[in-house]
Amino acid sequence: MIADGKTTGIEVMKSTDFIVARDDLQQCKVIETELPDATSLPDDALLVKVARFAFTANNVTYAVMGDQLKYWSLFPAPDGFGNIPVWGFGEVIASKHPGIPVGEILFGYFPMATHLVIEAADVGKRGLRDAAAHRQGVAPVYNAYARVGGDPAFAGRQGDYQALLRPLFMLSFLVDDYLAENAFFGARSVLLSSASSKTAFGLAHLLHTLRKDIKVIGLTSASNVEFVKSLGCYDEVVTYDRVTSLPPDLAVAYVDMAGNSELRATLHGHFGDQMKYSGRIGLTHRATSPDEPALPGARPAWFFAPDQIRKRAKEWGPGGIDVRFGAAWSGFAPMLDQWLTVTEGRGPADVKQVYLDTLNGRVPPKQGHILSLTE
Ligand SMILES: NC(=O)c1ccc[n+]([C@@H]2O[C@H](COP(=O)([O-])OP(=O)(O)OC[C@H]3O[C@@H](n4cnc5c(N)ncnc54)[C@H](OP(=O)(O)O)[C@@H]3O)[C@@H](O)[C@H]2O)c1
Repeated sequence: MIADGKTTGIEVMKSTDFIVARDDLQQCKVIETELPDATSLPDDALLVKVARFAFTANNVTYAVMGDQLKYWSLFPAPDGFGNIPVWGFGEVIASKHPGIPVGEILFGYFPMATHLVIEAADVGKRGLRDAAAHRQGVAPVYNAYARVGGDPAFAGRQGDYQALLRPLFMLSFLVDDYLAENAFFGARSVLLSSASSKTAFGLAHLLHTLRKDIKVIGLTSASNVEFVKSLGCYDEVVTYDRVTSLPPDLAVAYVDMAGNSELRATLHGHFGDQMKYSGRIGLTHRATSPDEPALPGARPAWFFAPDQIRKRAKEWGPGGIDVRFGAAWSGFAPMLDQWLTVTEGRGPADVKQVYLDTLNGRVPPKQGHILSLTE
């Protein structure tokens, strides 16, 4: 929303921003920040209206890791607060870049806000980059915007799926590729924690369709068992309190979306040397102990997506990842009409509700939230 103040005859444009306290994520509030008007935008800058964005547990993880992984530096907020990055769509409403017209639709990383000023650089037919100095300490993917106006794959409900799942499915795609490339480290079964999460079921879908000889086992909370079973891409679904009922002589690879130290210790203790791979991906449970003891079996290690991207970019050549990812997405996207119900929320009250529900694990896994701070 743009608030117009006409105190001195000069129109003051404002952005409505949703911010959270960095040291207590339960505390959140809405503030207004001033924006340059169209005439005072610097050269090459774009004023973008943030049209809609997705919000999932992944965004909460950005907040949890905000300091360590520099997510807080992307969209500055007042001292002690942070603006959580979200994936979504923006519409250019003023442009000082000769190559970007007003009305252009961009897909990428946005603040939880109504507006963003982008310093457009490397403008090409398919995209551009925000060259703002404060954004340069993160991986390039976080500063890239795709120009998607007129692309049906990014319009309407398909667009909602892109915002909700595309960045997550990239991780699913890379983990599937990494495990397959390494012959699953000798495992014949893959265990996925937070099996109900979008990142996990994207990976389960790929394993189920591409790796027929691999058993896909989902670990989840009792309340999410029915949802996980309904997806049809897990061969077996086990609740967290029953993981030791799995045969201990099963050679397993563990892909951990939950980040739960106690669960990890239980699984490693149970499978021992049969734990062939233990990859850390997420933190949905926010129950990670800072000093985990050494565990039996494969040593737990963070899966670092940019490493696999760099490796494959080199091996597959220009466009090689895009083509393969595009093919994988084409097989995945049609499942989403059955698997997800998109719920739209508008305005600060809806955004706050969805934020707190997601933070506190109250969002049913079938629900995909698409939000806008504009009423
Ligand atoms: N490293 C990377 O590059 C990378 C990339 C993509 C995603 N990830 C991570 O993967 C994780 C999944 O993200 P997502 O967006 O796919 O999640 P999502 O779809 O929003 O996942 C929701 C599920 O997570 C669990 N959960 C969420 N909040 C919880 C809470 N407060 N307490 C307990 N359980 C909670 C529940 O699953 P269960 O009941 O099944 O446990 C819930 O059904 C995130 O931590 C994300 O950051 C990492």
